[in-house]
Amino acid sequence: MTTVERGRTAMMRTGLSKPLSTALTDGLLLPGTSVFDYGCGRGGDVLRLNALGYDASGWDPDHAADIPRKEADVVNLGYVINVIEDPHERASVLRSAWSLARHILIVAARPDWEARYVHGRRHGDGVLTTKGTFQKFFKQDELRSWIDNNLGIRSIAAAPGIFYVFREDSASHTFLASRVRNRRAYRRIEIGERLLETQRVILQPLVDFVVERGRLPDAAEVQNIDGIENNFGTVKHALAVVRHMIPNDTWTSAQEAARRDLAVYLALAAFGGRAKFTSLPGDIQLDVRAFYGSYRAACDSADQLLFSLADQQILNKACSSAAVGKLTADALYVHISAINRLDPVLRVYEGCGRALTGAVDGATLIKLNRIEPKVSYLNYPDFDKDPHPALIASLRADLRRLHVKFTDFAGSQNPPILHRKETFVADDYPNRDKFARLTLQEERAGLLDDARMIGTREGWNATLGQAGLRLAGHRVVRAKGLK
Ligand SMILES: C[S@@+](CC[C@H](N)C(=O)[O-])C[C@H]1O[C@@H](n2cnc3c(N)ncnc32)[C@H](O)[C@@H]1O
Repeated sequence: MTTVERGRTAMMRTGLSKPLSTALTDGLLLPGTSVFDYGCGRGGDVLRLNALGYDASGWDPDHAADIPRKEADVVNLGYVINVIEDPHERASVLRSAWSLARHILIVAARPDWEARYVHGRRHGDGVLTTKGTFQKFFKQDELRSWIDNNLGIRSIAAAPGIFYVFREDSASHTFLASRVRNRRAYRRIEIGERLLETQRVILQPLVDFVVERGRLPDAAEVQNIDGIENNFGTVKHALAVVRHMIPNDTWTSAQEAARRDLAVYLALAAFGGRAKFTSLPGDIQLDVRAFYGSYRAACDSADQLLFSLADQQILNKACSSAAVGKLTADALYVHISAINRLDPVLRVYEGCGRALTGAVDGATLIKLNRIEPKVSYLNYPDFDKDPHPALIASLRADLRRLHVKFTDFAGSQNPPILHRKETFVADDYPNRDKFARLTLQEERAGLLDDARMIGTREGWNATLGQAGLRLAGHRVVRAKGLK
C-alpha cells in the first residue's frame, strides 16, 4: 500500500499566503473579522493574521491537531484539498470547512500549469511525488465546478486557483459590483474654501461618495450623523450643500460612469444567475433606482451588452473604435489601469475573462482578441521603468472552451518586448509623455520601421546596434565609441 505523507506538504511561509493576501486586498478581511485556517500547516498564516490584529486560529491534522475546529467569519482552506488523494475525503473536507464559515470560505488549490514543476508518478487523479506527497492539480473551471457541485452554491473566482464562496447572496453581489466599479476614473474633488475646516472634514466623505457612486447617499449610507447635524442642522441640508459644491460636469460624468458600471455588473451577474431585486444589497438597489428607475430597465440594458458579447463582429468593432489601447490585426491591448475607460461591451468581454481566471497577479496589459473570444492577461513587471519591457508570463482565458492557459517566458533569452508604451495607457497615466517622446525619437531614427525585427529582445538589440544607437533610460543616444 502507498503511504502518502500529507503533513510534509506544509512549508515554512515567509509572508501571508496568496489566498489570504488576496482576500485582504479584496477588502474581505475587515477589522474585527475572525478567521479560521482549516489545514493551517505550520501556522504561518495564523501568526501573521494575529500580528495584524485579527482573531485567527487554525487546525491541522499533522501540525496543530489539538486546536479545536471552530466557526469563524472567514474560513481558509488553503492548498489542502490538492494534497488529499482520496476524492471522497477531499469533498468531505470541503464540506466540513464550509460548515464552519459564517460569511466566506476561501478555497485554494494548485493550478494545472504547476504540474510541470512536480516530478513523480500518476496516482489516482493526481501525482505521487518523489517526496512521498500527493498533489492533484486543478484546471480553473474544474476547481469551480467541483466546489459548486459539492456545496450546491456558485463560487466566485478570486484569482487563478483561488475561489470565494459567500454564505449570503447579497455579499457576493456586493463583491462582484465592487470589482467593476469605476474606481480608477475616480478623481478626488477638493471642497469649498469658504467652509470652516471642521465642515470640510465632515463633508469630504459625502463628496467622495457622490464622485465615486454618481448619486447622493441615502440617509442609511451616511456616517457621522452627529457631526453632520451639529454642523449643518440636518443631513438633508448637508447633502444640499454637497450638491451645490460639485461642478455640473463632474456630477454628470460621475453619474454616467456609475450607470455604465451598474450595467456591466448586471451583465456579468447574469452568469451566476441574476439576483431578485430584493436580494440585491441595499446600495445596489439604490443605484438601480437612481440610474434606471426600475430593475427591469437596468436588466434590459445589461442584456443588450450580453447579446453583443455573443457576436464577435460587435466585439471586433468595439475594439477597433476603442479610445484607448493599441490595436493590432488580431487584438486590442490595453493597460490594466485603463480597462474601466473602455466601452461597456469591452468591459463585459474582459469581465468574462476575469470571471474565469479571477484577478491575475502582476497583469499589466490585457489582450482582447478580435477574432475569437479570448482574453489574455500579460505580465510585464518592468512596464514603467524599462523603455521596452519584456513579457514574463501570460494567462489566457478561452471563453468558448472555458479553459485557462498559462505561458511562462521568465527563463526566455529572447522574450517578446513592447514598443510605443504610450498607446496602451490613458492620457492621464504617469509618464505617458515620456513614453511618447521616446517613440517619436525612435521613429525619427527609423528604429521602428521593421515590425518583424523589433518584437523580441534580440531583434531589437540588433536593430539598435546596426543604427549605432543605445537607450539611456527613455532616451535614444549614440552608442559608445561612435560619433
Ligand atoms: C500544502 S499544506 C498547506 C498549509 C497551509 N494552509 C498553507 O497554505 O501554508 C497542506 C496541509 O493540509 C493538511 N491536511 C491534510 N489532510 C487534511 C485534512 N483531511 N484536513 C485538513 N487538513 C489536512 C496537511 O497536514 C498540510 O499541513
